[in-house]
Order: sequence, then structure tokens, then C-alpha cells
Amino acid sequence: MSNEIDALLQEHRSFPPSEEFRRNANANDESVYDVTDREAYWASWAEQLDWQTKWHTVLEWNAPYAKWFVGGKLNASANCLDRHLATRGDKQALIWEGEPGDVRTFTYRELYAEVSKFANVLKSLGVVLGDRVAIYMPLVPEAIVAMLACARIGAAHSVVFGGFSSEALRDRIQDAEAKVLITATAGYRRGNLVPLKKLADAAADDCPSIKHVVVVMRRAVAEELDDTVSMKPDRDCWYHELMRNASADCEPEWVDSEQMLYTLYTSGTTGKPKGIVHTTGGYLTEAYATCKWVFDLKEEDVYWCTADIGWVTGHSYVVYGPLAAGATVFVYEGAPDWPKQDRFWSLIEKHKVSIFYTAPTAIRAFMKWGHQLPAAHDLSSLRLLGSVGEPINPEAWMWYQKWIGGERCPIVDTWWQTETGSIMITPLPGIVDTKPGSATRAFPGIDAKILDEGGNEVKVGGGYLAITSPWPSMLRGIWRDPERFEQQYWAKWPGIYFTGDGAKRDEDGYFWLLGRVDDIINVAGHRIGTMEVESALVDHQAVAEAAVVGINHEIKGTAIAAFVIVKSSRAEEAKRDPAKFEKELKDHVTAKIGAIARPEKILITSDLPKTRSGKIMRRLLRDIAEGRALGDVTTLADPTVVASLKDKYEEES
Ligand code: WTA
Repeated sequence: MSNEIDALLQEHRSFPPSEEFRRNANANDESVYDVTDREAYWASWAEQLDWQTKWHTVLEWNAPYAKWFVGGKLNASANCLDRHLATRGDKQALIWEGEPGDVRTFTYRELYAEVSKFANVLKSLGVVLGDRVAIYMPLVPEAIVAMLACARIGAAHSVVFGGFSSEALRDRIQDAEAKVLITATAGYRRGNLVPLKKLADAAADDCPSIKHVVVVMRRAVAEELDDTVSMKPDRDCWYHELMRNASADCEPEWVDSEQMLYTLYTSGTTGKPKGIVHTTGGYLTEAYATCKWVFDLKEEDVYWCTADIGWVTGHSYVVYGPLAAGATVFVYEGAPDWPKQDRFWSLIEKHKVSIFYTAPTAIRAFMKWGHQLPAAHDLSSLRLLGSVGEPINPEAWMWYQKWIGGERCPIVDTWWQTETGSIMITPLPGIVDTKPGSATRAFPGIDAKILDEGGNEVKVGGGYLAITSPWPSMLRGIWRDPERFEQQYWAKWPGIYFTGDGAKRDEDGYFWLLGRVDDIINVAGHRIGTMEVESALVDHQAVAEAAVVGINHEIKGTAIAAFVIVKSSRAEEAKRDPAKFEKELKDHVTAKIGAIARPEKILITSDLPKTRSGKIMRRLLRDIAEGRALGDVTTLADPTVVASLKDKYEEES
């Protein structure tokens, strides 16, 4: 890690925006950073949204509890749809392409009608203001319709990524006590069908709160799935049947600014995922503001954020932000390498995408596949590139700029979290000179600082990234767990938000993100708690104890390595056929959590090295897993070797 940091800080290349980009940018004057009255500044953004009743107080702050735009009433779906009808009714809101190549488009007027109808459907199923609705879907237009329909009637959605297992879905539904589950027959991934309805059934059968399951028929696959999708009478209903007779007239529910818009589960430092709560007015204000300034959204743009709606990036930057800004949003269902590794470039060319926002793990995969693939496509429609999810290494940044951006597109490396709701640290592309690997500066109105353990500011140098003033789209809590909320984020320094990230600031005041400082690992841009994976492993009947660490990975950035102590009753078997045994454990984690948590390596050991105070020596485990301590090994040939290494390490550290 320290070598990487040194390398980063020797990065002195700097790229100013072109004169043309600067001239036309939505934000192009350094003075936007002079926010002297933070509340007035955020209020001026909120005024650009439609409010049914205006707020009387911009901010009420009783740390760590914030209320923004108090007394105001609005509706998120009305801001994403209704208010555009007069000027953008016939403009494309959504251009969608499925993995098999099927294309569907929705104008703002069409999307408005679809959402209104589905809002009426939800009402007819008994969903009312404040209820929770779970969404477990492939990335199809109906998923976005479902989210906006919930917002329209004041119900909170809880989207669960379609790659999660049925157990993970069950836990999230039970925690949120969702009343309705919306799913689909299946979705496509690399030419395969993911049988979502089947997985959803396994979860819903254990969830007494679920009264109805609404099923979207993924048309292209309907025939292949006829045999496998079974509908439970009284509980399950087809989306298309419910929609047939639904009215397209649905007055939005004017909700309080602080009404919960959604909960989204994310990994924390314990085994139990936490439901991050976001509310309406402040969240929408900041998602909108960042879209306007960071992505520089213009009327004619075709904007593509590659995130799935199962993650926060899909919430803020596929749905709420860009639609509130009246953009044309492109959405692609499937994998980047299907049917070939140039799929993304052919999509950009075909749909004339002008703004492209993706993750470093994808960029590293593209690099590996070779620049000849993008070079064979016309990418001249692009004018701005974005990156999110993990630190982007300067090499990937340079490749992205050259081969995708044609050296003409600014890159916005955006740092933020599920908890922050919107982008917090980022260049403004018409103002800030970018440096490869740096997320540069705090968004105007955001108070980001580097603090040391004692809470003192580090002006130049490294420490913890903290946010020292409330911001509109901040999380309002963890669903039904205020204690954990206070402990996790606000206990390190009173009244100051602890991000869990390490960062450095250089002489120009630029931020360089260095990764998590807690027990969360970032695998291909997705957050996984080490405890979650450890609990899944220990749940296997052959495992006595497990310890999980993150190890470097060429494409994923970080991958999961798990050290496992096998129960003596199974030890012989594990020794006889380690490959089979390791696969069994990996499959178990996949079944418990989902493929994103599947360990890259399983190392069987007879001992987990612990310090005298009982803490697992993760640095030693990482060195072993990455081959530094033992030479290049994937399995510990002699499991007792850890014990002997431990002594050596204890002396060193
Ligand atoms: C990491 C995703 C460096 C960080 C929006 C953070 C980043 C976690 C960046 C949140 C970035 C996200 N540079 N690191 N540009 N963006 N991260 O909640 O560790 O899935 O704490 O939100 O991702 O992940 P989450």
C-alpha cells in the first residue's frame, strides 16, 4: 500500500479543460467555490425543483440528525417526470437496450404514463404512504418505472441487486418489512438467464410481510422460461396484466421533504448489512445539482451511467439526478463483454452517447482487452467521462482519457458513498485541472477535510476523510438502528461524519483517496464486509473458523482471500481433494450472499494468527495470500506454517 501511495503522490501530470469545454460548461467560473452562506446556496439549488409547498427552514441540525427544507412538500416522481411534460414531453427520457439487443425507448410523456399506471397498480395492491416495497430486478425499464411509482405514492423502495442470493434478498426484505416484492421472470447476464423469480420465491416464502409479488415478464425469454416460472395464486401477479386496466391518471402524493424516499442496504463492519435511509427533498436537490455541474448535463446530451439500480450510483445517477435534470438516459441491461468485448463501444457509437460514467474495474478490464476494440468504433459523440466506486489508478486514468476520451474529454473522478447520497469530491469539468488518480476538490457547499485520529485537520498529508458540516443528501439514519448510525459514523469525532476512507491532500489542496480504513473491502467497486463473508463461511458445516482479507487483483482492484480452519471431521477429505473442497466453500458463499462475494482464494490453515490481544493479524494473512510471506502459493502446503510465520511477524511489527 505505501508504495502505491508514494507512486500516487509522484503523479504530477495535470490536465486543464479545453477552452471550448470551459466556455460552454454549466459551471465555468472559480467563484462557484465561494460558498459563504451554505444554507442559501443549497436553497438556491432546491428552488430549481418543483415544490408543492415551499419550506420554511432550510436546515435543522441536531447532530447527527439533519432535516433539510423543513416544512416543504414535493414529490420525487413529479420532479423527474411531470415538470418536464410542458417542455420535454416528446424528448427521450429513456433509451434502453437489453443484452440480446432488444431496444425500447420512452419519451418523458410515455414514462410519465407508465409510472402513473404502475403507481395506481401499487395502490390497488394496498401500498400506502410510508410502506416499503422491495425491488429485485434485472436492469429493465420496468425497474426504473417501479422505483418512480413507489416515489409517486410516497412508498419507500428497497432495491436489492439482482446478483444477490435469495438469502440476501430474504434478510433485506425481512429487515425492511416490505409489503410488496417486484421481480421479473429472469434477466440476462453473459447470454445466460438469471432465474430471478425462482430466487425471489425462495426469499418471499420466508417473508410474512410480503402480501404480493409482481412479476415482469422478460418478453425475450418468456418461452424459454415457461416451465420454470410458477405463480402462487393470491400472492403473485403479472405486471402486464395489472397494467392492462390501470389508469394513467395518478396525482402524485405531496410528501414532506423528510419523507423516506428509499432504503438501500450496504455492507458495514459487522455481518449484518445496514439499510441506509434517504429522504426526499435534500436528496433530490443534491442529486440534481451534482448532475448539472459534475456531468454538465445539457438538453441534447445522451447520458450513460453503467451502474445497476441495485447500487446507490444507479439510484442517484441513473434515475433521480438525470431525470430530475430532464436528461436523455441510456440504460444497458447486460455484460460489457457480450457477445463480444467491444459491446460498450458499439453501444456508444449506436446511441451517440455523449457522457459516459463507469467504474475503474471496468476500465481495467477494457485495458486488458485492448485499445484496438474502442479504436475500431466511432466514439466522437463522447464529450465527458466519469469514474466512480474505487480509486482509479493513474495508468487506467490515462488509458481512459486517451482511448475512450480521444484526449478531448475531461474525466470526472467522483468520490462518494451510499451514505452521502450524492457526489462529494470531484472535479467540476469546466473549471478544475485534473490530475490522474485524484478526485480533486470538494463539490461546492461540501465541507470535506482530512483529519487525524484526534480530529485535527491535516492541511497537507494523510489521514481520515471526514465531512464536517451537514449536506442535503446525507443519510438520515440506518433503518431501525439509530445506535449503529451514531456509533458507526459520528462517534469518532462528535458532530463530524467519519467516512471510513483514508485520503491524502497535496499542496494544491487536491484529495487523493486511498481506500477503506475499516473492515470493508471494495471488490470491483462493490462493498463487501469481511465479517459478512466470514459468517457465510462459518455457516458451512465443515468450517470451524474463517478470516477474510482483501488482496490485490489486476481487474477487480481488490479480491477476497479467505483463510479457513476446517473441522477435524472433514479435514481428511479437504486434504484429499483440496480443489473440490475449496469450490464447495466458494459455492457456499455465492449461495449465501451472491457471486460478488465469492472468494478468489481459499487457504486452508490449522491456525489463524492472532496478536496477544486476540486481533487477527490481517497484514500477515494478506502477505501470505499475495505470496509475499511464503513464495507464490495458493494453498498452504503445510497449514502449521502460519503458526511459525506468526512469531516472525510479531517480532517485526
Ligand atoms: C469507494 C459508491 C476512491 C470509497 C458510490 C467509498 C471511491 C466507497 C470512489 C463507497 C472514488 C467510491 N475514489 N474511492 N472516486 N468512489 N469509492 O457505498 O471507499 O458503494 O467509501 O458507493 O467506495 O461505496 P458505495
